[in-house]
Amino acid sequence: MLTQELLDEFKSLKERHDAVVLAHYYVDADAQDLADFVGDSYFLAQKAATLDCKTLVFAGVEFMAESAKLLSPNKRVLMPEPTADCPMAHMLRKETIDAAREEYGDDLAVACYVNSTNEMKAWSDVCVTSSNAQHIVERLPQHNVLFVPDLHLGHYIQQQVPSKHIILNDGFCPTHEAIEVREVQALTEQYPEAVVCAHPECASWVLDHAHYIGSTSGIIERCVQGSEDTYVICTVHGVLHEIEKRVKEAGDADRKRFLFPATTPICPNMARVTGQKVVACLRDFSGEVFVDERYADGAKRALERMLELAK
Ligand code: 13P
Ligand code: SF4
Repeated sequence: MLTQELLDEFKSLKERHDAVVLAHYYVDADAQDLADFVGDSYFLAQKAATLDCKTLVFAGVEFMAESAKLLSPNKRVLMPEPTADCPMAHMLRKETIDAAREEYGDDLAVACYVNSTNEMKAWSDVCVTSSNAQHIVERLPQHNVLFVPDLHLGHYIQQQVPSKHIILNDGFCPTHEAIEVREVQALTEQYPEAVVCAHPECASWVLDHAHYIGSTSGIIERCVQGSEDTYVICTVHGVLHEIEKRVKEAGDADRKRFLFPATTPICPNMARVTGQKVVACLRDFSGEVFVDERYADGAKRALERMLELAK
């Protein structure tokens, strides 16, 4: 809980610096509550590209704040926790792309999940997020698509778009990959009527048990709109904050039950982004994001192509 004194300071800092706060659903609940917009990575990238303000505070991990800076280079972008990084964002070697380009030539597109460094984005043809990857891959003119860095999202997209030949890389999210089938089964045995909702970063053997597969926003929407009473959620626990808020607003709080795998998926990097740090970065502009000019143009091009193709 943030003190009233801190909330008052936050309000005046925001006004003084013409700041807007964006937060991902995985960050600490206080940070989500301070945000003007909370969303999944696609929604937040769209907001960053279109908002009219001088300062953006991005409560999320590095690749999200860097994408915001690339899409909105004239704004000052601040990261409340500048060391919050996504391990999957580094799980790709340039040789993987070079080998695929060598083998498939012009009939290859490199689709890069936004959970990636700017350098990787610059090597690629288009970025995707979990909520638009299928649509974008379907629309690519090439038959062969090297999907990087996430193995599991790439595998899921291959199942959804069988007309394409998807070449997979071996990156993964340690938090989603740690979710085990037996944890999900333990819950569905106890609650056979439960709707299993999973993020496509989960391994295929977990996705095989899901009734709904989608981005964080998609999962939240499914849980809030669903007529069912019990939901098993296979993604990071942070989504529960938004689900509980919206279910309460809908008058369904007493009826609905939300369960997570027993090991409780937490993204350690996102969890370090707290409300206190959101306020602190506005005091001294600590955690300002600067992008490496060597990759800025290439990465921006891949992100802008995503925004265009996702329409
Ligand atoms: P979303 O695209 O659902 O926001 O997911 C981002 C992410 O990092 C999932 O682990
Ligand atoms: Fe990266 Fe996984 Fe955390 Fe998402 S949950 S930011 S993919 S480590």
